[in-house]
Amino acid sequence: MKKVIAISLIAVIAGLVTLSFRTESTKKTNYPSSVKDSVGSVKAFMSVYKVLMSARCMNCHPSGDAPLQGDDNHIHAMNIKRGTDGKGIYSVRCSNCHQAENTAGLHMPPGNLKWGLPPANMRMVFQGRTRHQLALQLLDPKQNGGRTKAQLIDHMANDDLVGWAWHPGDGRTLPPLTRPALVAQVRLWIAKGAYAPSAKAK
Ligand code: HEC
Ligand code: HEC
Repeated sequence: MKKVIAISLIAVIAGLVTLSFRTESTKKTNYPSSVKDSVGSVKAFMSVYKVLMSARCMNCHPSGDAPLQGDDNHIHAMNIKRGTDGKGIYSVRCSNCHQAENTAGLHMPPGNLKWGLPPANMRMVFQGRTRHQLALQLLDPKQNGGRTKAQLIDHMANDDLVGWAWHPGDGRTLPPLTRPALVAQVRLWIAKGAYAPSAKAK
């Protein structure tokens, strides 16, 4: 009997020791991730999503193989196609009309040296993606051009085509956030854990 009590006592003590050790070590290893905040992260992504789905961004990130135009995202006139490299098919290249700079005047072609859609083998579609889907896609190197999270932030902050959206030429509206505000929300989204909104969120 005594033996049984002694053994169970030892077991209890061992259990307590393990338990306290575990709380100690979880505390330690969890420290950096204690800044994780799924609610705050998702909230930041909601703002990012609004920009990604705005006309200036979505028109170059269509679900089909034609670019879109205007605030109503209508299909690009003149049967323009993505082509393999995103810069058109052999006879009709984007650069036939889109110059290095915006051409002045209403309904004139906007411009940038890199003007084009993402390539056919990595289409980076925004149009029609839910918040859940787009968050996962942006984080997936197989779908985002091989980018790490840091490179994703850098793309939003410094890429030229992204920047075009804030000087889009005559008669075009701007995205709903300023560029620095967008970058701040992308940083927050990632710093708080890069959570995707639930699949139920549209
Ligand atoms: C003129 C067309 C064009 C416009 C306008 C445009 N993009 Fe893109 N975008 C591209 C191309 C082309 C790529 C692929 C090239 C690359 O990977 O650098 C790309 C890639 C991206 C990527 C990286 C891939 C991914 O899906 O994670 C992000 C993020 C992105 N764009 C965000 C934006 C945002 C935000 C805007 C608007 C503020 C915008 N783009 C406007 C053409 C455009
Ligand atoms: C034959 C000339 C021509 C060619 C070729 C052409 N575009 Fe355009 N594009 C235009 C014109 C003109 C506009 C402006 C239309 C307007 O504002 O009503 C325009 C507008 C756009 C817009 C809309 C910008 C916005 O946010 O409203 C996108 C995106 C675009 N073109 C992408 C492309 C891509 C990508 C290619 C090549 C695959 C291409 N275009 C080839 C003439 C052309």
